[in-house]
Amino acid sequence: MLYAFLQLILLLQKLKIFYTKEELHTYLQKQRMEAKKIALIPTMGALHEGHISLIDYAKPLADCLVCSIFVNPTQFNDPKDLEKYPRPIERDIELLQEAGCDALFLPSVEEMYPSNEPAWHIELGPLDKIWEGAHRPGHFQGVTQIVYKLFSLVKPDIACFGQKDFQQVMVIQNMIEIKQLPIELAICPTVRSDEGMALSSRNQRLSPQGYQDALALSKTLRFVKNNFDHIPINELSTQATQLLKDNNQVDLEYFAICETNTLAEAKTIDPHKKYVAILAAKVDGVRLIDNMLLN
Ligand code: PAJ
Repeated sequence: MLYAFLQLILLLQKLKIFYTKEELHTYLQKQRMEAKKIALIPTMGALHEGHISLIDYAKPLADCLVCSIFVNPTQFNDPKDLEKYPRPIERDIELLQEAGCDALFLPSVEEMYPSNEPAWHIELGPLDKIWEGAHRPGHFQGVTQIVYKLFSLVKPDIACFGQKDFQQVMVIQNMIEIKQLPIELAICPTVRSDEGMALSSRNQRLSPQGYQDALALSKTLRFVKNNFDHIPINELSTQATQLLKDNNQVDLEYFAICETNTLAEAKTIDPHKKYVAILAAKVDGVRLIDNMLLN
């Protein structure tokens, strides 16, 4: 009886799915006329609790929740990575429905990238060139290109992004300032498994053993956080890097302790600033990133 009642509520709150910009635009115009506050949650699908936490975060802050699912080709520098990206769309729709999302934007590549478009470039300074920028050339140009398109289309009051992709959040914040967009950026905490692993769509590609091996990443970040006040920063950074390098299952790309705004590597600690430990590594052939705020 209760189950049937819940099903009925779900049906009444049915998620609206839009495949074209025009359909979504018409729907959003109506929402705006009703003075509804709009939140945008951009994703590439293969949704998990981390994504759903962004929807939950937005719920009390907005009246209309729009989630987009689009595996954006311009942000993949490795064609194999793009090809292997999981696309369980039916399950994603169910999860969005259960989460109480109002609208899903599910465009095709042709819809988002018509052939006659001018090239995209935004000057992001060093943020574009360090860490993820250095290891995935062009990645943040692709991310900003699609997010700017989504922002221009949806014109959200608030946009939710996960701290899990720390540099991405900084890049989007920069873009909002450069383009002077009237959008509030919400940074949502990283959702982790009970063992501490940051949830990611890529985790599905890890074998059970690979998953166990990958726990070394969050364990190292935890070690750094726990010792931030006790071990001098250079030594702490060296110890963490060594821990990861000594692990034969972890193919480390970078580990660094950075100041949060610039993501410049910290050599000394200024008590008025915030710091974050960031890392990227391949485990079991899967590229993973994670980070942890330290103070
Ligand atoms: P995607 O990897 O699908 O992530 C969508 C959003 O979910 C991002 O803001 C990401 O930081 C957040 N997220 C992922 N895992 C999380 C976790 N464990 N806890 C909290 N939030 C988490 O990031 C992208 O897609 C794309 O680059 C995108 C912004 C959609 C542009 O294409």
